[in-house]
This record gives sequence, C-alpha cells and structure tokens, in this order.
Amino acid sequence: MVELLPSILSADFARLGEEVQAAERGGGTVIHVDVMDGHFVPNLTLGPPVVKSLRRVTDLPLDCHMMIENPDEFVEAFAEAGTNWMSVHYEACRHLHRSLELIAHHGLQPGVVINPATSVDLLIPVLGMVHHVLVMSVNPGFGGQSFIPYSLKKIQRLKELRQELGLSYRIEVDGGVAHDTIAMVVEAGAELLVAGNAVFGAGHPERDARALLEAAQQAAATV
Ligand code: DX5
Ligand code: ZN
Repeated sequence: MVELLPSILSADFARLGEEVQAAERGGGTVIHVDVMDGHFVPNLTLGPPVVKSLRRVTDLPLDCHMMIENPDEFVEAFAEAGTNWMSVHYEACRHLHRSLELIAHHGLQPGVVINPATSVDLLIPVLGMVHHVLVMSVNPGFGGQSFIPYSLKKIQRLKELRQELGLSYRIEVDGGVAHDTIAMVVEAGAELLVAGNAVFGAGHPERDARALLEAAQQAAATV
C-alpha cells in the first residue's frame, strides 16, 4: 500500500501544528521529520523538543530521518520525545548493526538510509533488521531539489532483494518526489513516499497532499 509522508522541512515552522494537521487531513499517514546537525549535512533543523511538541498535535507515526553524526547518542532522547520510526544513514554509522539494534531496543521501528552515491547491495547484511529502507533521491540537506533518476534503479533493486531474501521491509523514497516524479517512484516499487516542497511549498498542504496521494494511488493501481 502506498502512503504519503509529508516532510515538515518545507512547512512554516511558526505554524507547525496547523501545517501537520492540514497535511494529515489531505491523506498523509506518517509525518517525516528531518533531523540535521550541520556536520553530516550542511544545514540545521530540530531536535527532541520539537518532536515532543509534534507528538501533542498528531497521533500519526513520527518518522525521524537522522542526518547527523553519532546518531546513537540521541536515540534515547528522540524515543522519549515520542518518535516512532527512526532511520540512520549508512554513511554516518561506524557500527550500523549496533545502531539499528539500539533503535529497536528503544522500541522504535529501525530504518536505514542511503545517499545517492551509495549502493543498495551494501545494505544486504542488515536488511533483515530493518522496518524500512530509505533511498535518498537527492543529496540530503535541503528541500526542493531535483529528483535523481538513478534512484529508480535502487528502488527496483530493493524490491528484487526483498523477494529474493524473503524479507518484508518497506521501501521509502525521499527527495524531489512531486507531481512529475511520483508515478515513476511508485512504479519502481516505493511505498513510503516522502514529500516536502510538493506538500507545503505552495501554502496549501491539505489540497496538495491529497492530489499527490491520488496520483500515487493511481500509479499503484497500474503496477
Ligand atoms: C532532504 C530531506 C527531505 C526533504 C525532501 O534532505 O531529507 O526529507 O524534506 O524535500 P523535497 O520533497 O522538497 O525534495
Ligand atoms: Zn528526509
């Protein structure tokens, strides 16, 4: 089943609660929260206090995408703040297996993320441990960038591997997912569709989330 994950990075942070609730009315079923530290990526965003506030305005799962160095140090604080899903970058974890175990130990759904230049096959040893695999279809750090077409091959490869290995992880895609790309990512096999600019960028999150989800569902019906 395809699901839309509005990414709050492109929301109006001064009206975050209303923005999230509007995206939820438009059909968003998981809220994607981009955590950046200014080191792993060249931008800064938010930490556990914002997650705690979000927890009060929605019952939807909160999907924290950790674009930080040493994510292990923050798992507990994000778990206590109300995070439900947490994905860590292959490129940021010196001991990825340990990080994923730590996330699961805190009761969160563990996920692993890869940058555009990282091969899916490097993840084979940990695919059995994760609830979701996140394919970055832009270089992480900013909203509103253009979709990198090679990401489609990576999504297809993850779908093949899931079948071959008899696993059940879900395939998530993040970056440049918008009206002109959403059908392609769904056809390639992505099910968890993160969208920031395409949901919040025009200031009509309910309307734009609904239109995107409808386009995704139409594409899914033809697969
Ligand atoms: C980028 C973030 C994304 C971002 C996507 O580093 O991980 O979640 O919000 O933004 P769009 O959908 O605008 O490409
Ligand atoms: Zn993200």
